[in-house]
Amino acid sequence: MTTPRLWLVIPAAGSGQRMHSSRPKQYQSLRGNLILDLAISRITATVTLAGCVVAIRPDDPWWGETRASKDDRITCCTGGRERADSVLAGLQSLQARAEENDWVLVHDAARPCLHPDDLNRLVSRLSDHGVGGLLATPVADTLKKTGAGTLDVQETVDRSHLWRALTPQMFRYGILKTALQAALSAGRPVTDEASAVEQSGYFPCIVEGRPDNIKITVPADLALADFLLSRF
Ligand code: CTP
Ligand code: MG
Repeated sequence: MTTPRLWLVIPAAGSGQRMHSSRPKQYQSLRGNLILDLAISRITATVTLAGCVVAIRPDDPWWGETRASKDDRITCCTGGRERADSVLAGLQSLQARAEENDWVLVHDAARPCLHPDDLNRLVSRLSDHGVGGLLATPVADTLKKTGAGTLDVQETVDRSHLWRALTPQMFRYGILKTALQAALSAGRPVTDEASAVEQSGYFPCIVEGRPDNIKITVPADLALADFLLSRF
């Protein structure tokens, strides 16, 4: 069997509603770079990829501004309505080149603070795994559960086995593509790659990552990401 190669899929077809900004967050600037370019370069600077595909909106006028668009090792494809549709579009665009057993990293375009140590740990911990897994961080706060339609606390949830799922997530190409296709065609909600893989009956492996691998979501996250990048 050939040695599995490593591919990268970047879902970047979101519109960033929670940022309330005129351009989507992946095209906003941070420390002189576009956030999408930072998210990609933190991976390309650390591991050797067979290729990279970025899923963007069909009417995207900003892609041409990126460094990624000028790199001939990086291609783009049209994303979909939900994040999972965009990831599946990226996987499908690799169909002719990727083998079932190859690895795919999926990393949010809006996550520019990935530390190289986390990426190296993810890739090395999973290298012998049959399925794949994800970076995640233990839940730190006490968790409260309310009832439907009320803010009255019903219970405190035991957080001892709870994790926050981050990206990159890394799965075997064939398993991930089949799992996403099955979940989407059944209309089941898919919030990350691991959830689709779980629905297919597999057990993704958690690799503990740093809590500062934040996803830019609301405007205040920009200042936090700026600070974090200044410390790396
Ligand atoms: N994404 C995507 N295709 C979609 C929706 C989201 O590729 N249809 C991407 C986003 O571009 C982002 C990542 O998935 O890189 C994580 O999604 P999120 O943080 O929710 O980004 P947005 O959907 O853009 O933001 P919001 O939910 O606030 O609108
Ligand atoms: Mg979203």
